[in-house]
Amino acid sequence: MNFASDNVYGVDQAIMDALVEANTGSADSYAYDEITKRVEKRFNQVFERDVKVFLVTTGTAANALALSTMAPPFGAIFCHAFSHINADECGAPEFYTGGAKMFGLDGVAGKISPEMVRESLKGFIRGEHDPKAAAISITQSSELGTVYSLDEIQAFGDLAREKGLKLHMDGARFANALVSLGCSPAEMTWKRGVDALSFGATKNGAMGVEAVVFFDLDLAKDFEYRRMRGGHLLSKNRFLAAQMEAYLSDDLWLNNARHANDMAKRLADGHAKVEYLRLGVECQANEVFVIMPKAKHDELEKTEAVFHEWLASGSDTAPVGPDEIMIRLVTSFLTRQEDVDGFLKLVS
Ligand SMILES: Cc1ncc(COP(=O)(O)O)c(C=O)c1O
Repeated sequence: MNFASDNVYGVDQAIMDALVEANTGSADSYAYDEITKRVEKRFNQVFERDVKVFLVTTGTAANALALSTMAPPFGAIFCHAFSHINADECGAPEFYTGGAKMFGLDGVAGKISPEMVRESLKGFIRGEHDPKAAAISITQSSELGTVYSLDEIQAFGDLAREKGLKLHMDGARFANALVSLGCSPAEMTWKRGVDALSFGATKNGAMGVEAVVFFDLDLAKDFEYRRMRGGHLLSKNRFLAAQMEAYLSDDLWLNNARHANDMAKRLADGHAKVEYLRLGVECQANEVFVIMPKAKHDELEKTEAVFHEWLASGSDTAPVGPDEIMIRLVTSFLTRQEDVDGFLKLVS
């Protein structure tokens, strides 16, 4: 009964099988192998146009390397204050950009709005005394399990074009957002103005592979150098590619995300029925935030259930009272319905 994260479970069997299959004979190294070539083509199909795609091993690397193409060392990147890039990557975006300044904005329910960025830009009036506004980054689905609508993404795309900024999407949970909206990958990205995407796979069944996908192909120029310099070009790249190929085959990525989202919805609906519990934020993907009396939390901690207490700013979620605690429950492609129902029994 582990709801600590979607990365606490293992590897989807289909992806494990693909790794075993790739483990035969020899193959060209450093991303010149046949599986990598197939994956590059597959991404063009998935996004219904030519894209440039580069595989890396972590979401942090995908984000930091993608942002390094968008913001100069003297640039500014606008994002949510509690976004992974701002709060959980140990300064990797600042490091890879060579010092770009992150502007963390306080948005409701894990999301920021174009108006917040616009407001922040009003302060950029002193030329080179301010950093140069360079990029906006949004997380889809967000760190609080909420999802930007297509119109919201479009509004960021419009603002980015108007102000000459680049738009990055942290898609560590891209598939969860996609099935939540029920749209196509193209609709959720480049058709709405996204220039580069960190495309996650690890949280949704892979062993460890993420992709940086460029829709603005100019940004991809020299990216192979950035990836190499960042230590993210694997000599045995075929094993990253094999994971991604399996992930994108037979709708595995979509089916896994759908299952995780369904389990989260079941959890959220179950909690909403219990009188002394309430949701911190609406569940729109595979994360559920529950506010509960401290006493209940302490009781739960003594059970076999695994979860994290979650701190968010007062404006980000429903307020958490002095005698209350908010916890985060994350579901995955392997979360079992019996675990969801078991947890609901424990809390009710
Ligand atoms: C929204 C988001 N982006 C990026 C990442 C980074 O992933 P990784 O742990 O692979 O670096 C995470 C991981 O938790 C995440 O939640």
